[in-house]
Amino acid sequence: MKNLKILMISSEVVPYAKTGGLADVVGALPQVLQRMGHEVIVVMPRYGSIDAQKFGLRRHWDSMGVWMGNMQEWCAVDVADNDGVPTYFIEHNNFFARPGLYHDDNFNDYADNPRRFAFLTRAGLQLAQDLRFKPDIVHVHDWQTALASAYLKIWHWNDPLLGGAASVLTIHNIAYQGKYPASHYDYLGLQWGNFTPDKFEDYGAINFLKGGIVYADMVNTVSPTYANETRTPALGYGLAPYLNDKGDNYVGILNGVDYTQWNPAVDNLIPARYTPDDLAGKRICKAELQRRFLLDVNPRVPIVGVVSRLVSQKGLDLLAGAIERIVENMVVQFVILGSGDKGLEAFYGDLPRRYPGRIGSFIGYNNQLAHWIEAGADFFIMPSIYEPCGLNQIYSLKYGTLPIVRATGGLDDTVIQYDERTGDGTGFKFWEPSANAIFYTVGWAVSTYYDRPHHMAKMIHTAMLQDYSWEKSAAQYVELYERAMRNKGAL
Ligand code: ADP
Ligand code: GLC
Repeated sequence: MKNLKILMISSEVVPYAKTGGLADVVGALPQVLQRMGHEVIVVMPRYGSIDAQKFGLRRHWDSMGVWMGNMQEWCAVDVADNDGVPTYFIEHNNFFARPGLYHDDNFNDYADNPRRFAFLTRAGLQLAQDLRFKPDIVHVHDWQTALASAYLKIWHWNDPLLGGAASVLTIHNIAYQGKYPASHYDYLGLQWGNFTPDKFEDYGAINFLKGGIVYADMVNTVSPTYANETRTPALGYGLAPYLNDKGDNYVGILNGVDYTQWNPAVDNLIPARYTPDDLAGKRICKAELQRRFLLDVNPRVPIVGVVSRLVSQKGLDLLAGAIERIVENMVVQFVILGSGDKGLEAFYGDLPRRYPGRIGSFIGYNNQLAHWIEAGADFFIMPSIYEPCGLNQIYSLKYGTLPIVRATGGLDDTVIQYDERTGDGTGFKFWEPSANAIFYTVGWAVSTYYDRPHHMAKMIHTAMLQDYSWEKSAAQYVELYERAMRNKGAL
């Protein structure tokens, strides 16, 4: 197979802008593909929050014209080097110089999001043309950039540079589809003839993700189990029929993780480093975590950690219904880091006052604290209602912090259930989405901690040796690209 040229367009990329795991993925996969010999360029917005100086952004073009509907938008383009991968930033201050990526401080979505991200997508394609970059693959992520496949087929099918490009759409979360009033349709420039129920129309509204799925040459999601789940009505959020229509052209590829960032042996953000064979550093991390969150500093009490967006997907309303019963009935501590839903923020933010010394929390986004919790906690809980992949439980494995998870999506694919007879396994799984199931599964983990320390030690060791590095997943993406090119007729 020849080396491929890949254009990746994404609304978030580590280290420049991140709200969730999507940014981690697009901040790591291109680098690995590049090391395999492929050529990748990445395109993202120049958000107001990006510190141009810190990241070494340089002006590339003062102006680039992008056709949207029957009007031309103008933007500037910056470029930076992301660990060897050229990353281009679309600068359009009206659209992107705002505090949040998708919503304002009160979590209200910006009303012009369909325009902002359709523009980003078309600007990405325009950039490739102006750079004379002839991609074999255009790889896009989630609803924000899903329209790329449609633009390629509707507008660029005959183009000398883009006409041969096959499109790949990765779904990181099918609940976010980009559904917007039809009044935006003219601006998107997708032709009214395509505003039909089998393409973009969805009960009178526009559905970005649906259109993207229909037009893409290959579609994938971020774990095999979630690929199966999204083919069913309950977890397909209305799109299961369209995914099923894709047949074999819809697959699941588990995310990798970046072990240069998330590995206690090399992590400079945590108080001390440690390895599977020497956990002394983990004990230091635990004591420091207890101090930082004003918990009783006691090495014998297990800590359960949470790092999460506080949204219903993550099951943290269920945990809210169990956590008080847990700390009232078990000798255990909690450390919670998250932001999102205002009601959940208020609830978790107030717990340290009500359970001093036993529950610590920080409401907000803080990468260093995320690392501290991974390293210092004994358990990490993710009671997700659904979880396309989930990265935190994979990080937790590497930090020897045993995951307690609901067996769904990527959580089910990456955590091996504890076996009480042998001490095999890497974590504790439950199935029922209820406060009761959380209560008893945390109880199971806590009793294992106190009563079967030899099993804990064995599981921690097994967990830390699990390998989810990107190389394996990247090889699967290359296969996906080849299949997309075959579907496109380019191979
Ligand atoms: P999702 O993308 O659905 O939010 P993932 O588990 O894939 O879930 O990825 C979440 C990522 O965001 C992880 O890297 C996690 O550490 C990070 N994260 C989430 N919330 C916070 C927070 N409040 N502070 C710091 N990092 C966070
Ligand atoms: C989404 C999903 C999460 C996944 C991440 C990266 O945000 O909610 O499960 O790990 O994307 O693919």
